Amino acid sequence: MNILILGSGGREHALAWAVKQNPKCDRLIVAPGNAGIATIAECATIDILSGEAVAGFAAENAIDFVIVGPEAPLAAGVADYLRNAGLSVFGPSKEAARLEASKSFTKEICDAARAPTAAYARFTTAEPAKAYIRAQGAPIVVKADGLAAGKGVIVAMTEQEALDAIDDMFGGEFGEAGAEVVIEEFMDGEEASYFILVDGETVLPIGTAQDHKRVGDGDTGPNTGGMGAYSPAPVLTDAIAQKALDEIVVPTMREMARRGTPYQGVLYAGLMIKDGQPRLVEYNCRFGDPECQVLMMRLGAQALDLMMACAQGHLSDIQANWADDHALTVVMASNGYPGAYAKGTVINGLTTLPETSSAYTFHAGTAEKDGAIVATGGRVLNVTARGATLQEARDRAYAMVDQIDWPEGFCRRDIGWRAL
Ligand code: AMP
Ligand code: GLY
Repeated sequence: MNILILGSGGREHALAWAVKQNPKCDRLIVAPGNAGIATIAECATIDILSGEAVAGFAAENAIDFVIVGPEAPLAAGVADYLRNAGLSVFGPSKEAARLEASKSFTKEICDAARAPTAAYARFTTAEPAKAYIRAQGAPIVVKADGLAAGKGVIVAMTEQEALDAIDDMFGGEFGEAGAEVVIEEFMDGEEASYFILVDGETVLPIGTAQDHKRVGDGDTGPNTGGMGAYSPAPVLTDAIAQKALDEIVVPTMREMARRGTPYQGVLYAGLMIKDGQPRLVEYNCRFGDPECQVLMMRLGAQALDLMMACAQGHLSDIQANWADDHALTVVMASNGYPGAYAKGTVINGLTTLPETSSAYTFHAGTAEKDGAIVATGGRVLNVTARGATLQEARDRAYAMVDQIDWPEGFCRRDIGWRAL
């Protein structure tokens, strides 16, 4: 089979790495890809936000299966376009991707499905929003309705912070994404991510993970896209995971199907767990990044079979086979991230790192320049390892980190602390 993966991050490198291990994969193309991906797959330049461009490329290259990595092409309707063109595609329709692209839509679906989540109100103007905040008090959470590259959520510990967030959002800081604002009850507890394949009808859990959103050790400093992750997430016990399926995932997926917009693809449920009860924080319509890296390391080649069964509506015929193992990934980022950082700094020491089914360095933001690997983004490398225990996975990952020579980069030294 010829397979096309859309995206350019560590998530897509991990997807490519797992897919490549499956003997069903003959030719693998990633668009646009990055320098790490280029060592295991062909990279192509396509406008991945254009269904027409992707469909044209797929036809020219006899592509059999398309895997959409990031949310932007999904929200732009690329999966719909490809499916209408007769292609087999892993990824939800534009309408189903609203579960990530619109927070107020997700709230509406949760209400209809009676799924446990934070109490909320929606606003399109500042004054009523501020009056609501004053009435509710802090802590309180202010969210831009639309996609804001992970920056549209303010967890306000004081009333003033929440009021300032309202001014920023209606002042246009998040563009169209902030034209509507959702204000939510602050939920206390421990967060975990649950990944579930959905083929419109059947749901199949494929793993749990936890990430570290803050930039600094001890979960301090500003929020990032994620500084590391591990799987499984011990807080999501079998009993709590089952509750999350029964009370949140299955009812919301039923509601999507009932509305004539069934969900197909991976559903990423961000959960808050307190006293054994999961509540929904948010849905994403894609794999998490860097959570995908640890999931792919644990799933390996079967990831392709699972994604194909999902795309073809055959999830009831397949199972995910888990080894009793753990995986952990450490994100290496450019100094200064998530603020301003230098681009083009040279990374040495990568060529001697292990590349096995249980130790691999996925690239998130790299390019090749004059024979060297240079950093091109904020999050740059995902150093990933597997072990019989989380401690073993972590020791292996940090042993690899210590071989990387990149003075302009940094990482957190405490990934996995909560679980250890
Ligand atoms: P989201 O983009 O909705 O995942 O929000 C980003 C992060 O903000 C989440 O991962 C949580 O850490 C936090 N957050 C979002 N909503 C709430 C809430 N209602 N209560 C507490 N924390 C929240
Ligand atoms: N790591 C969080 C996300 O992918 O949204």
